[in-house]
Amino acid sequence: MKIRVRPVHRLEGRARVPGDKSVSHRSALLGAVAHGVTEVRGYLEAEDCLRSLHAIQALGAEVTKKGPGEYRIAGAGLEGLGEPGDVLDCGNSGTTARLLLGVLAGQPFATMLTGDDSLRRRPMARVAEPLQRMGATFLGRSGNSRLPLAVRGQRPLEPIQYAAPVASAQVKSAVLLAGLWAREAVSVTEPSHSRDHSERMLRKFGVTVESRGLTVTLVPGPLTATSVDVPGDISSAAFLLVAGAIVRDGRVAVAGVGVNPTRTGVLDALEAMGAAIAVGERVEGDEPAATLTVTPSELRGTTIAGGLIPRLIDELPVLAVAAARAHGVTRVTDAAELRVKESDRIAAIGRELGKMGVRVTERADGFDVEGGARLRGATVASGGDHRLAMALAVAGLCAEGETVVEDTACIRTSFPGFVELINTLAGGDVLVEQA
Ligand code: S3P
Repeated sequence: MKIRVRPVHRLEGRARVPGDKSVSHRSALLGAVAHGVTEVRGYLEAEDCLRSLHAIQALGAEVTKKGPGEYRIAGAGLEGLGEPGDVLDCGNSGTTARLLLGVLAGQPFATMLTGDDSLRRRPMARVAEPLQRMGATFLGRSGNSRLPLAVRGQRPLEPIQYAAPVASAQVKSAVLLAGLWAREAVSVTEPSHSRDHSERMLRKFGVTVESRGLTVTLVPGPLTATSVDVPGDISSAAFLLVAGAIVRDGRVAVAGVGVNPTRTGVLDALEAMGAAIAVGERVEGDEPAATLTVTPSELRGTTIAGGLIPRLIDELPVLAVAAARAHGVTRVTDAAELRVKESDRIAAIGRELGKMGVRVTERADGFDVEGGARLRGATVASGGDHRLAMALAVAGLCAEGETVVEDTACIRTSFPGFVELINTLAGGDVLVEQA
């Protein structure tokens, strides 16, 4: 699958993006181990999150689809999951694999996880190591650090006070989820704040979770089924926001977007670059949501570093595109995590934007983008990474001549309808999909 992108001068309209990926995964996993029936609305029906639904079904939770994005999950309770009859395939989804390992660490049976080529390259030791210290047993490739990976849980698990070496919500969540089956409270301390969807949702399911500074503590206890409203994914909205900021004309509003402060780093970075983004129609809830409206403006380079990085880690590919259109240099540092995402995103951003005439200097933990370049249409490749595919398509909207983004089927993992949505805002077929 590839996308031909024609340059466009104007994007106009009001849109909604599909449900938040992180919140969707968590609703499936918590629903599966809760007592009673959890109702989820706005679930992201993209490949990654469907993997989580399949996994909980294989473990014994009952999942019923009631309508688009609407699911009923009959939970098995903390004691009720059972050994799956086959290997669980997590596809491209790191969140499915890592959060599931946390749940499986507390199950008294063996489960095997695998994934696609990308996921099988990604590090799993970051979760296996603390879970092993809690009493789970792992057997897998590369010293138990890569999928396929087998885990045999233990119940109860030993409590842990874990000092995580990286700010990763997946690591934090895996340890907290395992903590549900621990003898006593578990805690995780991070080097800086990562997204807190797990903490919020665990509380919603009735679990005691306290956050103090950079430490989160969970007291083991049962989960009571509840209802979950999944807001729009700000990581998907980011593609529309950057597109709306860098085209010449128009106005793009994205309604119902999750604006949890641990996720809004992209708004802070775009604001620092001089983008005009208004936040309105705010709705408070378990996860706050708002309408984000962007109009085009002159952008300037900025520095993106430190504690801001985990708050926008998934948006860095598209922020690199905004940086290419800005005046001056944008510097991204403290972002070595980009190298272990769905692809090595530091290398991919440099290589692919380079083909479009952008000067990107790679460093071990980030990159510099020299702004102000005229983007040239080119044939570029996503390398199977959904966020690269969409970021490159956005770059193509402002390039001279046609851009072809190759290997775009991966967009399905997080943002079904991306192509149609851009075309609607452009008022014509600007992104054309080809087999
Ligand atoms: C996620 C956490 C982040 C993010 C990923 C989703 C989550 O990963 O990049 O897309 O839902 O917890 P890390 O925990 O590896 O930083």
